[in-house]
Amino acid sequence: MILKGKKGIVFGALDNQSIAWKVAERCVEEGAQIVLTNAPVAMRMGEINKLAEQCKAPVIPADATSLEDLENLIQKSMEHFGGKVDFVLHSIGMSVNVRKGKPYMELNYDWMQKTFDVSAISFHKTMQTLWKLDGINDWGSIVGLTYIAAQRVFPDYSEMAESKALLESFARSFGYHLGTAKNVRVNTISQSPTMTTAGQGIKGFQEFFDYADKMSPLGNAPAEACADYCIALFSDLTRFVTMQNLFHDGGFSTMGMNPALVQ
Ligand SMILES: NC(=O)c1ccc[n+]([C@@H]2O[C@H](COP(=O)([O-])OP(=O)(O)OC[C@H]3O[C@@H](n4cnc5c(N)ncnc54)[C@H](O)[C@@H]3O)[C@@H](O)[C@H]2O)c1
Repeated sequence: MILKGKKGIVFGALDNQSIAWKVAERCVEEGAQIVLTNAPVAMRMGEINKLAEQCKAPVIPADATSLEDLENLIQKSMEHFGGKVDFVLHSIGMSVNVRKGKPYMELNYDWMQKTFDVSAISFHKTMQTLWKLDGINDWGSIVGLTYIAAQRVFPDYSEMAESKALLESFARSFGYHLGTAKNVRVNTISQSPTMTTAGQGIKGFQEFFDYADKMSPLGNAPAEACADYCIALFSDLTRFVTMQNLFHDGGFSTMGMNPALVQ
């Protein structure tokens, strides 16, 4: 029960494969109260209501690119909890150019703007809204999910690589301001390839997944283990970890070559 008494907002649970879904379940198991949120369009699939029932959590729709929606989400969450939140999970990613199959050398820039807005600027918008509404408690914790394509080239990841680089940079920069003002920590977790809707949207994902699995001494980290790591970061056991990009990848990021892969 390491989150006993804590209150948080979980973005991005689409279906039971979503990393955010597993995080929501683990938060509640560890004693937290949560609010679930996702884009209004994702609500139509209806899956999130099952999770809401299971977690006894309200669902407050918000398009994470809309400041109005984010204000409404944070205000309603504070009303629901009767106070500020202690933690936030940003688990949002979508590339318009990837969806539409545009090669990297021919990217459409309007779509790229949208990709950055959804996948990265929404993180800044969330933190800015929390700041403006004074919505997060001192010693709170904010986590965003990212991928190693921010540092290394994975050609099929396309403009999502730049989105993740931006996301990680926002974590550092806003981490400074939130840390100085309120001792709030901001980190990103760089997760292994994971079989989810967003993951499988990437071309050649299965090959990508198998390659990383073989390269990593511990194998790919599953979504459930990522949820455990998020819980650790929301808990009071990690109060001085901030402005970090934390690899949760079975060792992949440190490997050069693995004989298992050659075989
Ligand atoms: N799956 C992987 O291989 C992998 C690896 C590393 C990092 N990640 C990251 O993990 C996070 C969660 O992805 P996932 O793999 O669980 O996939 P997912 O498809 O289950 O989750 C992505 C979520 O983003 C939400 N979303 C999209 N547009 C939105 C908007 N405008 N407003 C609010 N929400 C919006 C979707 O509705 C969905 O719930 C993403 O940031 C992703 O990039 C995934």
